[in-house]
Amino acid sequence: MKLAIIGASGQLGMDLVLSGPRRGWDITAVAGRNELDISDATAVARFLHAARPDALINTAAFHNVDLCEKETGQAYKVNTLAVADLARGCEAAGIMLVQVGTDYVMEGAPENKPLPETACPRPKSIYAVTRYGGDMMTLAHAPRVGYVVRTCGLFGMAGCKLKGGLNFVDTMIAAARAGKPLRVVNDQIVAPTATDELSEQILDILREKPGPGLYHAVSHGECSWHEFAVRALDLAGLRVPVQAVSSSAFAAAAIRPTYSVLDNFRLRQYGLDKMGDWRTALERFIKNKYRQS
Ligand SMILES: NC(=O)c1ccc[n+]([C@@H]2O[C@H](COP(=O)([O-])OP(=O)(O)OC[C@H]3O[C@@H](n4cnc5c(N)ncnc54)[C@H](OP(=O)(O)O)[C@@H]3O)[C@@H](O)[C@H]2O)c1
Repeated sequence: MKLAIIGASGQLGMDLVLSGPRRGWDITAVAGRNELDISDATAVARFLHAARPDALINTAAFHNVDLCEKETGQAYKVNTLAVADLARGCEAAGIMLVQVGTDYVMEGAPENKPLPETACPRPKSIYAVTRYGGDMMTLAHAPRVGYVVRTCGLFGMAGCKLKGGLNFVDTMIAAARAGKPLRVVNDQIVAPTATDELSEQILDILREKPGPGLYHAVSHGECSWHEFAVRALDLAGLRVPVQAVSSSAFAAAAIRPTYSVLDNFRLRQYGLDKMGDWRTALERFIKNKYRQS
């Protein structure tokens, strides 16, 4: 069985490339824009025709959240229209499609209870609106084959390609080691999610085929970014002060959700929720990436 992974040079993509063959998938890895730009509809159609995968996972997105506020056309093109093209192509060819989505489309405040797939989306930025567009395009144009898997706060060995190969934890550790003062928001609550577990979870979905539609897949538990940073630094053996600040301290261009913890309700319903607690995943991550060096 052939599995195409778009965004294979990214943080999640690299874990999928590692996990796929262990599950018997024959992988076609599309590293990034240099190989195939998903916003080029003709190139996407040509790729689907030539590669003929049984399943395709799209991890690519224009996910520079603040830049999306300025480059709205590009955000819409990559995050919404390109996903529509992928969905149409996959539906027509009978290719199972996993479109990776984001918690930013949601807002759970003031109730602050984990949000299941049935919760009403409340996108607050151009980024979030265009990502929600991608979710909807998948469901509309790939009703037989389309899975939207929304996730949150990724950390994996490869680091986030968009951020120069650093995820949030890497950034905190690098800053602490460089002796820089650390200020981290404590008014955004998230479910930090490990990409090694998420990649296995996505492959479980492809194997079990619980039915197309929307799925939330995050590590269990929740925390503020500040709490996340403090725990990561502690695990890395770095005893440095981390100042807790409110989001307004950074004056970012895009509004972030204040509470975007997702509930893996549908996965649980199907007995498929294999995600672990973020604290355990973080411990493993720090041990593998930082304690061996
Ligand atoms: N990182 C997080 O904390 C987080 C949180 C929630 C949801 N997500 C979502 O999870 C997915 C994976 O995130 P990640 O952290 O693995 O991202 P990443 O490390 O930045 O990787 C993104 C990958 O997509 C490729 N890509 C970007 N634009 C493309 C385009 N137009 N055409 C083809 N490929 C393109 C990139 O390669 P090139 O740069 O070479 O094109 C890269 O391989 C994304 O959809 C992201 O929005 C991430």
